Amino acid sequence: MTVITGTRPSALDVDAIRADFPILQQERDGKRLVYLDSGATSQKPTSVIEAMDEYYRTYNANVHRGVYRLSELATARYEESRVKVQRFINARSAKEVLFTANVTAALNLVAYSWGRENVGKDDVIVFTEMEHHSNIVPWQILAQITGARLEFIHVTDDGYLDESDIQKVLELRPKLLAVTAVSNVLGTINPVRELAARFHEAGTVVVVDAAQAAPHMPVDVQDWGADFVAITGHKMLGPTGVGVLWGRRELLQAMPPFLGGGDMIREVHLDHTRYAELPYKFEAGTPNISGGIGLGVAVDYLSALGMDTVREHERELVGYALERLSDVPDLRVYGPPAEYHGAAVSFTLADIHPHDLAHILDQENIAVRAGHHCAQPLMERYDIAATTRASFYIYNGQDDVDTLVTALYRAREIFRL
Ligand code: ALA
Repeated sequence: MTVITGTRPSALDVDAIRADFPILQQERDGKRLVYLDSGATSQKPTSVIEAMDEYYRTYNANVHRGVYRLSELATARYEESRVKVQRFINARSAKEVLFTANVTAALNLVAYSWGRENVGKDDVIVFTEMEHHSNIVPWQILAQITGARLEFIHVTDDGYLDESDIQKVLELRPKLLAVTAVSNVLGTINPVRELAARFHEAGTVVVVDAAQAAPHMPVDVQDWGADFVAITGHKMLGPTGVGVLWGRRELLQAMPPFLGGGDMIREVHLDHTRYAELPYKFEAGTPNISGGIGLGVAVDYLSALGMDTVREHERELVGYALERLSDVPDLRVYGPPAEYHGAAVSFTLADIHPHDLAHILDQENIAVRAGHHCAQPLMERYDIAATTRASFYIYNGQDDVDTLVTALYRAREIFRL
């Protein structure tokens, strides 16, 4: 094998970024951690860890309830995070930014609150073959409850949404389109703005899963023009257990609450309740306060880098990875070229089971995800059980790609390919 190593300039100072992530300082058997599983969850910078630590150590109190100093401070920091997220996704108002547990919770909120009110028997719900299970199962449940019909946009061999399917389903004037902005398996970047415009002409409400987009590229909900957009904190340097649903104000205002309970009310009587204003109508119960605060600091970190710069770094890095991987014999990459490719790169190597491959990579201290990636319909589409997925982020450099490729050659030797 020819050893090529990456020397192209990056849009980001990867060494400086790595220094901000304590977990990346560790070694195992003299091998540094090559973390290529940010699609599953990203690592966290010191600033996020310290902000959450500071909350618990110095001003832990519930939000929106107390009139004492600690509670007011916690409320202020938590609400500041909402405004940071609002700016990060360019929402018109912080009232449109609902804190949820994650993307799954956000999409279920839409399916339950908007869906049960607006979708009826024989209405059409459309989603794509490249969706994560969290953007499939809630719509299947909604269809079962309402008697609505499911229609699908399939995926081409190259990993794009099939245009002829798009045209077909548009003619059905669907009630709802659920689409991912970026595939967590193929990496495909979908044309959200164009899809939203086309489906709006057909009277369709458009729901976007931006879990794999918001950490990696600018997300501008006004520019996209969709109706609901879901993001999650833990894939964008923030903690687990906090996500965001952005929704158009007029839709959110008309929707009934999802969960009922504390904090989502204006007044409660024994026989009826008046609900709180947005966003609190959808935020029942004590929220993930430290998580919300941590997410705000994660947004600060990404905003300081600049999301255009993050995208440029990853476009370059994924381009390099695709190039290097294409040289590995018997390796098949799924998904489009770098220009249309987000941070996740899925592949198979001959008939080595992805779990075996991930295990061999782990021996080199390389962390990847292997399996169906919660996208079983997509696995069926390509007639495979699983892939190995390397997903990149701001702390990955060409040296990580080189280490991965060297380990893949090593796997070939072990399997006598
Ligand atoms: N949705 C996450 C992934 O793709 C967990 O790995």
